[in-house]
Amino acid sequence: MANFTLNINGKNKEVDVDPNTPMLWVLRDHLKLVGTKYGCGIAQCGACTVHLGDNAVRSCQLPVSVVGEQKITTIEGLSENADHPVQKAWLEVDVPQCGYCQAGQIMTASALLKQNPNPSDPEIETAMNGNICRCGTYTRIKKAVKMAATIEADS
Ligand code: FES
Ligand code: FES
Repeated sequence: MANFTLNINGKNKEVDVDPNTPMLWVLRDHLKLVGTKYGCGIAQCGACTVHLGDNAVRSCQLPVSVVGEQKITTIEGLSENADHPVQKAWLEVDVPQCGYCQAGQIMTASALLKQNPNPSDPEIETAMNGNICRCGTYTRIKKAVKMAATIEADS
């Protein structure tokens, strides 16, 4: 066990865990931030996606010991009032079906738009490609990412 001070959603959080513990379990089990989901555990589905700095990463494959002082953002910290452009677009398009994959989808989409505010269709497809949705909401996801880009541009 070791003690880590982590910057999660803008606040310092201390945890005492095995250094190999994936961030997914630190978030869910130790910090009770259960918006980040467990899907496959092997970096294949994207359900566990969070931001490490400005990048979308798979928290199931991110050992707590490599995070250091880098900022982690989870779906709970993406915006104060669920009013991030991606969240607004997701609501407007009514993207989710069962909802299980959607936190990961939103975190991947928001990282994409931070790095590329006006992505082309192929760029959206490439960025979202690793996020699996068993309900098949892909068409709505793409529509919402495009809408979020216009909301971002207006705000
Ligand atoms: S749970 Fe991490 S990618 Fe599937
Ligand atoms: S909305 Fe059900 S898995 Fe994506």
